[in-house]
Amino acid sequence: MDISIEKKIEDMDISSPPPETEPLRQYWFMKKLRENSSEFQRKKGFRPRAFIQTFGCQMNERDSEKMAGTLEVSGFDISGEEEEADVILYNTCTVRDNASQRVFGRLGVLKGLKDKNPGLLIVLSGCMMQEPTVIEKIKASYPQVDLIFGTHNIYKLAELLYYRISSGSRIIDIWKDEKDIVEALPSNRKYPYKSGVNIMFGCNNFCSYCIVPYVRGRERSREPKDILREIENLVDDGVKEVMLLGQNVNSYGKGLKPEISFPELLRETEKIEGLKRIRFMTSHPKDLSDDLIEVMAGSKKICAHLHLPLQSGSSRVLEAMNRHYSREDYLSIVRKLREKIPDIAITSDIIVGFPTETEADAEETVEVIKEALFDGAFTFIYSRRTGTPAASMDFAMTDEKIHECFDRVLKTVQETARKQTLRFVGRIMPVLVEDVNEKDPEMLTGRIPQNTVVHFKGDRSLIGEIVDVRLDEALGFYYMGTMVRE
Ligand code: SAH
Ligand code: SF4
Ligand code: F3S
Repeated sequence: MDISIEKKIEDMDISSPPPETEPLRQYWFMKKLRENSSEFQRKKGFRPRAFIQTFGCQMNERDSEKMAGTLEVSGFDISGEEEEADVILYNTCTVRDNASQRVFGRLGVLKGLKDKNPGLLIVLSGCMMQEPTVIEKIKASYPQVDLIFGTHNIYKLAELLYYRISSGSRIIDIWKDEKDIVEALPSNRKYPYKSGVNIMFGCNNFCSYCIVPYVRGRERSREPKDILREIENLVDDGVKEVMLLGQNVNSYGKGLKPEISFPELLRETEKIEGLKRIRFMTSHPKDLSDDLIEVMAGSKKICAHLHLPLQSGSSRVLEAMNRHYSREDYLSIVRKLREKIPDIAITSDIIVGFPTETEADAEETVEVIKEALFDGAFTFIYSRRTGTPAASMDFAMTDEKIHECFDRVLKTVQETARKQTLRFVGRIMPVLVEDVNEKDPEMLTGRIPQNTVVHFKGDRSLIGEIVDVRLDEALGFYYMGTMVRE
């Protein structure tokens, strides 16, 4: 917890009305909530407990850390037990239909918990809440939900929760559009040694299948000084690795004065003393510059890993997806990367079954996977999202065919990933130790710069350290290794 934020909250005068400016206004409500929490504790003998579950991407994870930080400074225990919680918060995702369905499924279960503990508050936030149809459905059929807000007003959690508690009635606050970025919110990080750092919010790309631009608003970049200060604070707090986050980091800096490019931001980040590793995601191929490759090749801290979503290997489908690159453009980036950074791992996202996609198109995807030699890829079956252009396009394949093509794509990714993993066997690599192995408490688990997982013998005191490990054996998508030096 950032001590300067703690001090500012402590200094708030809650006998006068809340300030208008942010984040001070939220600090005021955090202090008010502390009174509620103390009252709760006096009555029950323990602090109110909050449980947070994140659905969705790293950006949502980071939002959840901020909400956890807000609840923590407001006097809540961030508990791991959903059944015991006094506040349950779901930070939702709607990128594919199954993400949304999971949330609705859980809401049924929560109704049972609320019957047992009528004081339980159920809070929903995040991308799914930006969809008007979702809000209608919750209003009509899920009276157990107490508080709803979207992606643009996450920073207002303290205020909204305070009003919900004092009014006793349901609050729904969704903003259609984004407003200014609010800095300096408390955060409760999931890992002590690594952290995500937002460098931008929203997306302007409108890939024809994707709902993100509609639920996250237009692209806004954070000021470099705010980003660098946040990373410096994280490093002071023990963080070794940061992941710079944005839907399209390669377009970072547009609209800032003075304008700054993503490679320039990386050069500045590199200078931060004590920071050991830099990762970033996601890179859109259409905006990937030669300068980025150059910065990566010359850097000691930027990990030799690039997540570069392909989506499809067919230039025709890519055009229908509004991706603004062709199969050849993509492969030429891959060639350049492998030439300049021979050890690089390239991972990807692939969609199968996009409307108009034929079996021959899917075959082209298989070919590109083989040629690009992906070290790994997330493969998805296309999911129709209401309001996106692709939602009104026709399918060219049956469901059965789509599944067949999906299986072929997945199998190809597994083959290239296995092959790529083999190339480092015998090498000694720096490994950031992340945890004790789940199955064997004598073993540790960590990651090489390429992001592949390694298991090796070692003591838990090494968690958060970078150690040298010889990669003895590749078992599919991970390694077994031996530590050679601490
Ligand atoms: N901004 C990132 C991706 C964010 S969403 C980028 O442009 O690469 C993560 C992944 O989900 C996407 O890369 C895409 O592969 C997948 N995805 C997005 N919308 C989808 C949909 N409607 N159906 C299936 N997969 C989808
Ligand atoms: Fe979605 Fe495309 Fe934006 Fe990524 S770049 S979030 S896939 S619209
Ligand atoms: Fe999901 Fe929103 Fe991320 S829709 S993938 S949580 S930006």
